[in-house]
Amino acid sequence: MPLLSNNPPQQCRWHSFNTTAELEQAATQAILQAALQAVNLRGTFHIVLAGGTTPRHVYESLRNADTDWAAWHVYFGDERCLPADHVERNSWMAAQAWLNHVAIPQTQIHLIPAEKDGQLAASAYAQTLAGIELFDLVLLGLGVDGHTASLFPGQELGNTSNAPAVIVVENAPKYPPQRISLSAHRLSAARKVIFLVSGATKQQAVRNWRNRVAIPAAAISPTNGVDVYLEAALLA
Ligand code: 6PG
Repeated sequence: MPLLSNNPPQQCRWHSFNTTAELEQAATQAILQAALQAVNLRGTFHIVLAGGTTPRHVYESLRNADTDWAAWHVYFGDERCLPADHVERNSWMAAQAWLNHVAIPQTQIHLIPAEKDGQLAASAYAQTLAGIELFDLVLLGLGVDGHTASLFPGQELGNTSNAPAVIVVENAPKYPPQRISLSAHRLSAARKVIFLVSGATKQQAVRNWRNRVAIPAAAISPTNGVDVYLEAALLA
């Protein structure tokens, strides 16, 4: 993969933790801190959720949070093109772990309609996002190949200023092949971005990232940089 030499350097702050539990606790606290700040300043908190399995325990911890749920607006960074109630949906995991257990108004939980035709889903979700100039917080995962959301190596990342907010992914190497993803450009329109990275399988992706290899995660370049929460062992 090419180096990132011709892109503005992504500002990356690496936060390493001795255990996964410590990482998850710190991530939960960072989310609630971002929420408190956003609600105090603007009366609302717009958060984009990561998919996959890494965030599960963080989402479960949020069930017990003392926060103004009525001010929360939840979005998804990507969604798998599966039936709305399919257990492999990112929205299903977030609902089971957290959203079904707190009083965020249903009208403020903005699911990606990925059960629909791809382009229809992408267009509909772009409309949903149209009113949000900057997300307050974007949570992202990291795949073993360096993907994030459903932005995969060698595929369209949508990392130019004229990129659409939402893109249809047709042949993802990670099941299912069809997905709907926010573009790198749209994911970068955020006050804060936190990557949650856990597990030995992510070591090579982290090494590539730190060696400025052009993995998709490195295409997320918000003005304030990104914070990567990971286990210390992954920095070895
Ligand atoms: C997905 C996610 C994807 C995920 C990474 C890491 O749909 O799978 O959006 O980007 O965050 O693949 O997945 P794990 O957390 O399961 O390792």
